[in-house]
Amino acid sequence: MGLFDVKKSCEAGQVDMSRLPRHIAIIMDGNGRWAKQRGLPRTAGHKVGAEVFRRIAKYCKKLGVEYLTVYAFSTENWKRPQDEVNTIMGLLKQYMLEAIDSMEEEKIRLKFFGDMTALSPELQELVEKTNAISKHIDGVQANICLNYGGRDEILRAARAFAQQCAAGEKHPEELTEAAFGEYLFSAGVPDPELIIRPSGEVRLSNFLLWQCAYAEFYFCDTLWPDFSEETLDAAIIDYQKRDRRFGGVKK
Ligand code: FPP
Repeated sequence: MGLFDVKKSCEAGQVDMSRLPRHIAIIMDGNGRWAKQRGLPRTAGHKVGAEVFRRIAKYCKKLGVEYLTVYAFSTENWKRPQDEVNTIMGLLKQYMLEAIDSMEEEKIRLKFFGDMTALSPELQELVEKTNAISKHIDGVQANICLNYGGRDEILRAARAFAQQCAAGEKHPEELTEAAFGEYLFSAGVPDPELIIRPSGEVRLSNFLLWQCAYAEFYFCDTLWPDFSEETLDAAIIDYQKRDRRFGGVKK
């Protein structure tokens, strides 16, 4: 799979507003390299990355995209230097504090995918607060994957279903794809039609493994802190040129 050329995708036309993906997922990658190129600490890249997330969430709302899912911190990211982990957690805290005040007005609903029990009690409380406010908001839903891993999500779902079977509440034959989906962090959220990974890396890194079954992928060289509304347009324009067959044949 090669990388897509943002400039060419943009030159190729405009976003067709009648055929927008309902759900876009993004691996916000390249913060560290962006900072290094400027002689800055990696944490500076994450700070700009958090700003870019704010802008892109607002842009999704403006376009009419219903769901935006971003990979903020994986189950493996705890291996990073402590100051980097602290910075990312600090940025999330800051974002949630701001969101508590502004999400109703901005119409951005928040949901967190991942194991929140490993977070500080303060962050867990903020997650609960933003979840509670989100229930009353109509607008774009931003899902932030935090201490998230795709395999971990599937394992937890399997375990929860198995426990219900062991307790006699469920039977194995009841398990369909749709039923299994209800045990995932993404329960109730349609699968992403478009998954974007900037920064030149062409892999999924344990992101939305169940949900990506029929997603279209868009990989580009842009580093996440340089990602803009134009880059998102380019990805959507490219997506709109794809022939999605879902295992069928072309009509
Ligand atoms: C990947 O880039 C990025 C992360 C692991 C962290 C992403 C987190 C944020 C943008 C802050 C989250 C805040 C909000 C408000 C959602 P990398 O560090 O792996 O970059 P590299 O590959 O260039 O080293």
